[in-house]
Amino acid sequence: MNGRDVFYLLKQSSQPKATIVFIHGFPFSSEMWRNQLEILPEEIEGFAFDIRGFGRSKTNHPFFSIDLFARDLFDFLDAVKVDKALLCGLSMGGYITLRAAQINKERIAGIILCDTNSVADSDESKLKRFSSIDLVAGGNKRDFALGFLKNIFCESTFENNPDAIQLIENIILNTSESTICAAQLALASRTDTSSVLQSLNIPALIIRGEQDKIMTPEQAKQLHSSLKESELLIVPHAGHMSNLENPSVFNTALLDFLSKHFQ
Ligand code: MLT
Repeated sequence: MNGRDVFYLLKQSSQPKATIVFIHGFPFSSEMWRNQLEILPEEIEGFAFDIRGFGRSKTNHPFFSIDLFARDLFDFLDAVKVDKALLCGLSMGGYITLRAAQINKERIAGIILCDTNSVADSDESKLKRFSSIDLVAGGNKRDFALGFLKNIFCESTFENNPDAIQLIENIILNTSESTICAAQLALASRTDTSSVLQSLNIPALIIRGEQDKIMTPEQAKQLHSSLKESELLIVPHAGHMSNLENPSVFNTALLDFLSKHFQ
């Protein structure tokens, strides 16, 4: 794509009625969506791609921004010949979804926003990101990863679903230091996308893990009240990684949403 390799997972459909594109959070990869791709109904086509610099996708750009990632998303849709798609983004994936909606909402058939928000970072959050950059740039990626895992998973996941933790730990440790640092700056400098919410007349599902320590209940409620056609799901026994921590509740809501609006 534009001279750059983009890795993606595909769930094919012989006669697709709709296409869903899953967008991963920071600092993860398309692998976090494998289970959701597998459970899609026959008539729904699904993609999960690695954002530039993450997973198996390459980058050739001197800096990252959420705006750049959103423009990459449209380049990806062009490359796989999809005119209009339902977007499902978790956390950073949600920031990218909302920035994409500001750029061109005509190409978005619906949105699923998981454990995310539409506001920019506070100064306190920016300063925390700068400390994380120092940690990783100083050669302590493992310490960063272990601290991050404690923040994103709820306690019961450590006991009941060690495979999910291991998956994400491996992904973080395999992400390059330069990608982690550049993406932290992209997160710190993202714009507030709240203004787009009220202009979206498309089906929307807001999902939040009940014990998410990164996104507040108020932020999920704000997305829900600003998006006219939205539903809000609170996922029990889940922190920030709701699709991995409680896949049965997450997948049931995903399938209900698809059958109601896209099948
Ligand atoms: C993510 O999961 O994408 C990050 O936690 C987002 C963030 O730190 O703002």
